[in-house]
Amino acid sequence: MATKRVSDVQSSAEMASEKKQKQVRVWVDGCFDMVHFGHANAIRQARQMGDYLIVGVHSDEEISKHKGPPVYNEQERYKMVRAIKWVDEVVEDAPYVTTLETLEKYNCDFCVHGDDITVTADGTDTYHLVKAAGKYKECKRTAGVSTTDLVGRMLLVTKSHHERDEEKAVDKNQAGDIGSGSTASSPWTGVSQFLPTSNKIIQFSSGKEPKPGDKIVYVAGAFDLFHILLLMNGFI
Ligand code: CTP
Repeated sequence: MATKRVSDVQSSAEMASEKKQKQVRVWVDGCFDMVHFGHANAIRQARQMGDYLIVGVHSDEEISKHKGPPVYNEQERYKMVRAIKWVDEVVEDAPYVTTLETLEKYNCDFCVHGDDITVTADGTDTYHLVKAAGKYKECKRTAGVSTTDLVGRMLLVTKSHHERDEEKAVDKNQAGDIGSGSTASSPWTGVSQFLPTSNKIIQFSSGKEPKPGDKIVYVAGAFDLFHILLLMNGFI
């Protein structure tokens, strides 16, 4: 039976420890305007796919060029994202189209994005380069919440904007098929269907149990529209 030489044993031990040490670095980018739990959930999922998460945030100029001006300016958005607990590093002024050079520059193994398509002003998939290179992974987009919807709710200033489209249609005895037309329910609009199951709560919590003698603080509030002060106080 062949016996392993000491040098072989050492090299395989080294390899194992190198493998153990190899940190998986993940890249996520986006506008992150009026940060909401859909953004936080994407960031949480991306962080779970690796060991270190870098979030690239687009500048006001880039967003205005491809999508329209954001509500929060870039400095506000950088701070908001930096305050999310799963974020290890923020890259300011990240390009709208994710390039391989960007991933290489920050030593990232792959890029993560929600399972929706994001396009440039001329309709090009913003992730076409990383997709072609096999460096793209998807996380599940959170249904029922988007910046556009939040802005829409504020503009409408109605008392019934928490009702689902279906309920509104039934209440008002509106005829018509709720699956089509302008009242159609869509995963990107309408009221959030984010169920706070115990599994979800565990995913979002730090998992730290209070030790005997720890001071436990309870904070109550409406927490409508997260903003930088809430985030900096550790609510996400
Ligand atoms: N995202 C998500 N669920 C949502 C909204 C966004 O998972 N309900 C994810 C996107 O897929 C992306 C990241 O959050 O990976 C950042 O999204 P962003 O560029 O800020 O914008 P949008 O996708 O357009 O979302 P919104 O309109 O809500 O800003």
